[in-house]
Amino acid sequence: MTYKNLLLKKEGNVSILSINREKALNALNSEVLDELSCAIDELSEDKNTYVVVLTGEGRSFVAGADIGEMSSLNAEEARTFAKKGLDTFRKLELMEKPVIAAVNGFALGGGCELSLACDIRLASSKAKFGQPETGLGITPGFAGTQRLPRLVGTGLAKELIYTAKTIGADEALRIGLVNAVYEPEALMEEALKLANEIASKGQLAVRYAKAAINHGVETDLDTGMEVERNVFGLCFATEDQKEGMKAFLEKRPAEFKCK
Ligand code: CAA
Repeated sequence: MTYKNLLLKKEGNVSILSINREKALNALNSEVLDELSCAIDELSEDKNTYVVVLTGEGRSFVAGADIGEMSSLNAEEARTFAKKGLDTFRKLELMEKPVIAAVNGFALGGGCELSLACDIRLASSKAKFGQPETGLGITPGFAGTQRLPRLVGTGLAKELIYTAKTIGADEALRIGLVNAVYEPEALMEEALKLANEIASKGQLAVRYAKAAINHGVETDLDTGMEVERNVFGLCFATEDQKEGMKAFLEKRPAEFKCK
């Protein structure tokens, strides 16, 4: 499928999805959100895609939800717009395949929230993060009040959201908002290296692990451990488990087939 506001490139078992609305610093309007939702479906169904790298074209990852589109919304329309972003990001978060955000520039408001819905965040040293919404007289609307405190802790999330301040990549690394920071020209190479490393492992195991972690962080420990026990058991019904263990015992690299 071709998109007006997205670029989709496939390199082996890794797909690179890039938000391509440079004139508005990749701000998310309804059209971009709809396309993003379709692209997530496409990538979910694509048997050859094991890992997704999400990034932005130009100097921005995503500079937030589209302020022009939001400016004239009434309360009910704003709730509907928020639902579109919330549902799309939730779909991304619950996608079976891992998603790495390669944050190349501004990740503000809805852009920061989009990165939070990804499994892993890598940043360019030029990246800027923040939830500037209170400066616009609104709250975050694409789950920033929910995912940011879960990732960096309540105190830091409250400070970022109440002050609307922007932080650089090093500060984002210090507070655990990103996993690593790279020079801008090295970011995509490093993101692909990580994606390919993940893609070389047993994919069903990676997907079960993602599901167990996502489930576990939203429930109590005993329920989470039961989920882990179940996915652990499911692994033993896969060819990947047989191949992975056989390869270890035969002292050779495993050849996983995602079966
Ligand atoms: N929505 C719509 N357009 C945006 C935008 C956004 N979020 N962010 C940037 N743009 C547009 C600008 O209007 C400008 O368009 P024109 O050239 O037509 O004037 C273009 O992108 C370039 O932006 P700037 O000229 O402002 O570039 P800059 O380098 O001077 O500043 C910036 C960059 C600091 C990111 C600044 O653009 C900015 O502050 N953007 C808004 C960031 C923001 O507040 N995001 C949160 C939105 S609210 C939200 O996301 C709510 C939610 O959770 C759902």
